[in-house]
Amino acid sequence: MKNIITIGGSTSKKSINKVLAEYSGELLSNVELTKIDLNDYEMPLFSVDVEAENGFPKKAQELNNLIEGADGFIISLAEHNGAYSAAFKNAYDWLSRINGKVWRDKPMLLMATSPGARGGQTVLEIALGRFPYMGGNIIGSLSVPSFFDNFKEGELVDVDLKENLLKLVEDFDKAL
Ligand SMILES: Cc1cc2nc3c(=O)[nH]c(=O)nc-3n(C[C@H](O)[C@H](O)[C@H](O)COP(=O)(O)O)c2cc1C
Repeated sequence: MKNIITIGGSTSKKSINKVLAEYSGELLSNVELTKIDLNDYEMPLFSVDVEAENGFPKKAQELNNLIEGADGFIISLAEHNGAYSAAFKNAYDWLSRINGKVWRDKPMLLMATSPGARGGQTVLEIALGRFPYMGGNIIGSLSVPSFFDNFKEGELVDVDLKENLLKLVEDFDKAL
């Protein structure tokens, strides 16, 4: 059985991106989901000096090991001031020091959502531009705008968005 990692790129306890990533993962059948909560992977703020003094944090190594063992990733990024959340970027910086090909060329479904009308499109574009240089094999991407209008009672209720997501999940499944 394939092992898929889901990540919400945020440490918010009520992260809508975590909800979206896990919801999307649950649309797949016959996979094992490893649902990552960045709160479980707290790391010191990246600095070349901290790295030189203490090496890689244990939590970064644990996360790297999970990535190494996974078959694919479903990631939904929170947008903070038009960029990655500090927690995601920090983990990403540490991971990139362990292995520059962070995502190991394994299939990825990349998303972003926000309560606003742009649906995290800015951070999504940043990641779409950058992840391919870091071993990202992006099978498809989706921004879900106005999360609280479009996602209700555990379900993506907008018909077009749901159709798009189902197609992406199908493509992702085929690529695994
Ligand atoms: C510091 C901060 C900056 C934010 N900047 C943006 C932004 O640039 N664009 C946006 O659409 N939403 C922005 N938001 C709102 C987030 O999209 C919203 O908090 C969302 O719930 C974050 O995703 P999460 O629930 O997965 O943490 C910001 C929120 C915070 C706390």
